[in-house]
Amino acid sequence: MNHHPTEVLQSRSLVPRMVLLTVFLVSCFSSGFFLYGHSHASPIYNVMDFGAKAMGGDNSRAFGAAWGATCGDDGGRGAPTFYVPRGMTFKLKPISFNGPCKSNSVIVQIDGILKAPGSLAEWEASSRKTWLTFTSINNLVIKGSGSLDGQGSIWWKHSSPQTTQVEDLMNSASRPTALRLSKCNNLVLSGLHHLNSAKNHISINNVNGATISNLKIVAPSWSPNTDGIDISNSRDLHIHDLDIQTGDDCIAINSETFDLNITRITCGPGHGISVGSLGKDGESAAVGGIHVRNCTFIGAQNGARIKTFQGGSGTVRDISFEDIILDNTRNPIIIDQFYCPEHGCGTSQSNLKITSVTYRGFRGTSSRREAITLNCANIGCTGITMNSIDIRSAKPGGKVEAICKNAHGRYTDVTSPQSICLTD
Ligand SMILES: *[C@@H]1O[C@H](CO)[C@@H](O)[C@H](O)[C@H]1NC(C)=O
Ligand SMILES: *[C@@H]1O[C@H](CO)[C@@H](O)[C@H](O)[C@H]1NC(C)=O
Repeated sequence: MNHHPTEVLQSRSLVPRMVLLTVFLVSCFSSGFFLYGHSHASPIYNVMDFGAKAMGGDNSRAFGAAWGATCGDDGGRGAPTFYVPRGMTFKLKPISFNGPCKSNSVIVQIDGILKAPGSLAEWEASSRKTWLTFTSINNLVIKGSGSLDGQGSIWWKHSSPQTTQVEDLMNSASRPTALRLSKCNNLVLSGLHHLNSAKNHISINNVNGATISNLKIVAPSWSPNTDGIDISNSRDLHIHDLDIQTGDDCIAINSETFDLNITRITCGPGHGISVGSLGKDGESAAVGGIHVRNCTFIGAQNGARIKTFQGGSGTVRDISFEDIILDNTRNPIIIDQFYCPEHGCGTSQSNLKITSVTYRGFRGTSSRREAITLNCANIGCTGITMNSIDIRSAKPGGKVEAICKNAHGRYTDVTSPQSICLTD
């Protein structure tokens, strides 16, 4: 090839540039630099670069190392990202991602699939409380299109009465929560699929400020204690746009939870959006400022539920359920102050006071005649408001009714049932 002199000159000067570019590209790819397609991206710690192997054995060592690097990054180049790549499945034993981290904020992007151990032998007795724990990390963002698979069937099988291990695993205390988030203020959790937890899928404790959105949480309707999200000791939370299909509560709101908005949740199968259970073993509980809006219950055991044990004390106040659609739901509206899932709860009276509860805009069908049950303790439920209620029987020609005990308040614009037994 005969090159024109200027061409030769150009290609000579291009060689070192090409080498530099290649070195740049290789280093960028290995650090995942191009994931977001722009050159000012913040640092990304890809678990593959720390030795994680898709479809290999346990990856907790590699994940721990990638977390160490992420949490140790000072954030000078922007929030560091812990990255699990898409299209890959990683087996992971129980692991804790602990803060505080050096950066003011940390991103955990999960686009791949994480799988909990698939045999009980791989779960050491001391690690059976939680599969994935995030603790003491402020401004934590957990997002992505990936899945967290709790492989719960190995546990549910053993919790069935047909097996010999009933004693141990029937007890929900001896099965792990899939994802626990504690002491993480200003938390964002979004996009993931959560499936088949051994017990509840997500636990939120001691979190001030959180947005939880666009999750899909799925476990079989018969799977024991597989709540979608459990919340306690937290405030200032917004949960929206979730699809939850599980064997227990879609969302359970427990003690010391305040200022929680729940919007556009589809629940069912599942045991409803529940305040409680509260007051177990005589405990004192407080919950307030819970606003549930635009939710749909499909084939759920309960819709809007408040449940307390006998003998507890404290207050449940300022609760609202508005714009609720019901499809074949067993207890569309229920307050149960005599909650007793395991029998033998005794007969002590409750001092847990339920007050200022609004039910507005309920439409759809109940699979049970008692569409509304307000079963309050002697202390009474007060300030109950019902407005714009039209709950029909799911059975053609069937009737619905409301039953009340110690329930006080007012109702307007109630089409069905014909009347509500609330008293002044
Ligand atoms: C909850 O909704 C109310 C009314 O729309 C709003 O004032 C409040 O800021 C919301 N709180 C949270 C934590 O989203
Ligand atoms: C709730 O639903 C109502 C009626 O369908 C709609 O007008 C409103 O925009 C919805 N609000 C939210 C926050 O989704």
